[in-house]
Amino acid sequence: MSAIRRSPQKWQHFSDENKSKSSTSHPRSRNLTFRPIIICSTQQNADNNSSTSSAGRIKRLVLTKQGRTKANSNPDREFYAYPRLVTHVDNKFISKLTDLYREILRPEMEILDLMSSWVSHLPQEVNYKKVVGHGLNAEELSRNPRLDYFFVKDLNIDQQLQMQNDTFDAVLCTVSVQYLQQPEKVFAEIFRVLRPGGVLVVSFSNRLFYEKAISAWRDGTAYSRVQLVVEYFQCVEGFTQTQIIRKLGDNNSILSRISGLLGFLSGSSDPFYAVIAYKNFKPIYD
Ligand SMILES: C[S@@+](CC[C@H](N)C(=O)[O-])C[C@H]1O[C@@H](n2cnc3c(N)ncnc32)[C@H](O)[C@@H]1O
Repeated sequence: MSAIRRSPQKWQHFSDENKSKSSTSHPRSRNLTFRPIIICSTQQNADNNSSTSSAGRIKRLVLTKQGRTKANSNPDREFYAYPRLVTHVDNKFISKLTDLYREILRPEMEILDLMSSWVSHLPQEVNYKKVVGHGLNAEELSRNPRLDYFFVKDLNIDQQLQMQNDTFDAVLCTVSVQYLQQPEKVFAEIFRVLRPGGVLVVSFSNRLFYEKAISAWRDGTAYSRVQLVVEYFQCVEGFTQTQIIRKLGDNNSILSRISGLLGFLSGSSDPFYAVIAYKNFKPIYD
C-alpha cells in the first residue's frame, strides 16, 4: 500500500483533519483544480517498526508539561489561517541552508519538507525525485514550486504521519521546530518514515513567532535551544549521533565592523543553526 499516490496532475493536497474540504492544486500551472485527498491506512502506522526491535521508540520525554506551553494557546490553525508569503529569515541564512542541502541531498532522493510554506530553500538547479510538503496553510503550500504534493496537518493535535514506514530519504524542518509541543512524538514519526540511512535536517535561527513558540524555547538561550534539538533526536532510539552546524551572524567580519562604525550597511545576518542525524542502517540493539 502506498502512502501517497501520484495523480496524473502530480500535485495533491492532503488534509487529514479536513478531508471533506481538502483540495488539490498544481502550483506550477497555477491552475488550481481541486482533487480528493489520498491517504494511506493508519494500520501501517500501528505496525510502526514492528520489524526493527526498539528502533524509533521514545526512550524518555525531553520536555516538561510547562515547557510545552505557548503564550497563545489558541489553535495553531487559526494563527496560520492567512498565508504569509514572506521569508522568515534573511538571505544569508537561506543561502547557508541551501548550500547545506546542496551538500547532503542528492537528486534521486525523496524528501519530506515538514512545517513548510511557499519556499523550501532547496537548490534551484537540482531536481529531486519527489518533494512532499507539509504545513498549516494550504495556500502557502500550493504556491511552493518545489512540492510534488502537500498535506495540511496540525502536529500539535496529532503527530501521526499518514505514510508508510521507510518512505523518505530526507526530512527537512526549517525554522519551525520551536512550535512543536510534542517534539518527541514528531521525531519518532520522522524516524519511522525515514528510510534506513535517511537524514533529518532541523535548522533554525533566533527568530520566532514569540507567542507560538513553546516556553522551553522562548525562555532558552541560543545554546540551550541547540541542546534541546539535540535531545529531541537523542530521545528516539536509532538516530545516529547528531552533527551540529553553527554559523553565527557575519557581524564580526572586518567589512561589517567598518560598516557598523560608519553607521551604514549593517553586515550582520541571522545566526544559522542546523542539527543533523541519520536513521541508523541497523538498529543499535537489534
Ligand atoms: C516560520 S514558518 C516556517 C516555514 C518554512 N519552513 C520556511 O522555511 O519558510 C513556521 C511553519 O511551521 C508550521 N507550523 C507551525 N505550527 C504548526 C503545527 N502545530 N503543526 C504543523 N505545522 C506547524 C506552519 O505551517 C508554518 O509555516
